Amino acid sequence: MKNLTRRRFGVTVAGAAASAFAGASFPRIAFAQTPSLQQFPANFLWGCATASYQVEGAVNEDGRGPSVWDTFSHTRGKTFQGDTGDVADDSYHLYTEDVRLLKNLGVTGYRFSISWSRIFPKGTGQPNEKGLAYYQRVVDELLKNNIAPYITLFHWDLPQALPGGWQSRDTSKAFADYAAYVSKHLSDRVQHFFTTNEFVCFTDLSYKNGQFAPGLKLPAAQVNQVRHHGILAHGLAVQAIRANARTGTKIGLAENATVYVPVIESREHIEAARRATREGNAPFLTAVMEGKYTDGYLEREGTNAPKVEAGDMKLIGSPLDFVGLNVYTPEYVRADATPAGFAIVRRQTSYPRMASSWLYIGPEVLYWAVRNVSDIWKPRALYITENGCSADDVITTDGRIEDTDRVMYLRNHLTHLHRAASEGYPIKGYFLWSLMDNFEWADGYSKRFGIHYVDFKTQKRTPKLSAEWYREVIARNAVE
Ligand code: FCB
Repeated sequence: MKNLTRRRFGVTVAGAAASAFAGASFPRIAFAQTPSLQQFPANFLWGCATASYQVEGAVNEDGRGPSVWDTFSHTRGKTFQGDTGDVADDSYHLYTEDVRLLKNLGVTGYRFSISWSRIFPKGTGQPNEKGLAYYQRVVDELLKNNIAPYITLFHWDLPQALPGGWQSRDTSKAFADYAAYVSKHLSDRVQHFFTTNEFVCFTDLSYKNGQFAPGLKLPAAQVNQVRHHGILAHGLAVQAIRANARTGTKIGLAENATVYVPVIESREHIEAARRATREGNAPFLTAVMEGKYTDGYLEREGTNAPKVEAGDMKLIGSPLDFVGLNVYTPEYVRADATPAGFAIVRRQTSYPRMASSWLYIGPEVLYWAVRNVSDIWKPRALYITENGCSADDVITTDGRIEDTDRVMYLRNHLTHLHRAASEGYPIKGYFLWSLMDNFEWADGYSKRFGIHYVDFKTQKRTPKLSAEWYREVIARNAVE
């Protein structure tokens, strides 16, 4: 992998340069001759990601039941200007157009999620065949275009009908039944499943801070129980998929583990980042990778620690085929003389960020995400299941969206991902968030993360400069 890179690329560019002279553009030649091109491994998977409630719309169609996000977004004051996912990108109807966008980019994978309440309108019980049929159509359209479907089973749109939501242990069991059903019916054509997306968002942000659906602010003991039910759901689903899907089906999760970046790349700070990674992610990724809660977490939570039943931790630690990491922003850490051995470094007020208040820019986060997780837990394979940014996109008078800030963000992040690949870490692919602008949860439509601009009045999709740029990255399998 290491030095494949420039030499091999040099051979291919020679041909490219020749054909470029035959009439194509000059910038292409200049680029091809740039010695700093960073080539990714052969068969590296390039993709884009979306999620059901953020893009589908059609909330009342074909038997879909309501999710907690329908209720939440329709509750006054919960989302930016009362925005909802009622229509979103209308992907439920426009999915063939969306597959065409993917095709034009040249991606080989598409990560999207299934709306649980389209399949089981009440969360459990009778499945809704029309819901399943929709996803079969999407999958078939992708396959027809040689794009591999990567399915997330739960990206926060929990069926409203489930009593108690994630406060109830029964929800974890219901999730396993739903995972069993979907994998049984789709694994003839889908090889990769992610169980859950980002534990902290559907547990803490939803049941502790009240920022996300269902918008509760529970005390610590109850929050820890919700967290436990979240990771238990994941573990039960892994088992359910293994028991029901075709042999060879690959299973993982998509997790936004906090990524601790050493302030200086020296031994002591690297070690501090490693310690921070284990403790900082103790209720979630650490528990999943180790099949136990760390002593530190249990001590910190004391009597508020989750109630764990016999066998839970083994299920939670079910072996995975891959780990998916959603990576956006770094947390800087340094070595410290305390027993924990690390301290979080506070950001200065001048620290740069993108259009979302939480999105601080630190491109090396992509390298450290892969390295920390690999060094500690040695997963068989890793994917970046989300990375991207919001930007204040404007349309020029001649209809272009020149999102140079997003290109800057992506280019720098991919450079650091390249470093991880070239050092031999088992990074297999990258899904850019997002294919197109969509319903950004509590921020509604005020934050645009897409590489395609969406006019939400007409549903017109327009490639931004970043889409053009990503297409070139994919075509060259390299970043400049
Ligand atoms: C992640 C979510 C995704 C999107 C991006 C910006 O946390 O998984 O749905 O909102 O952030």
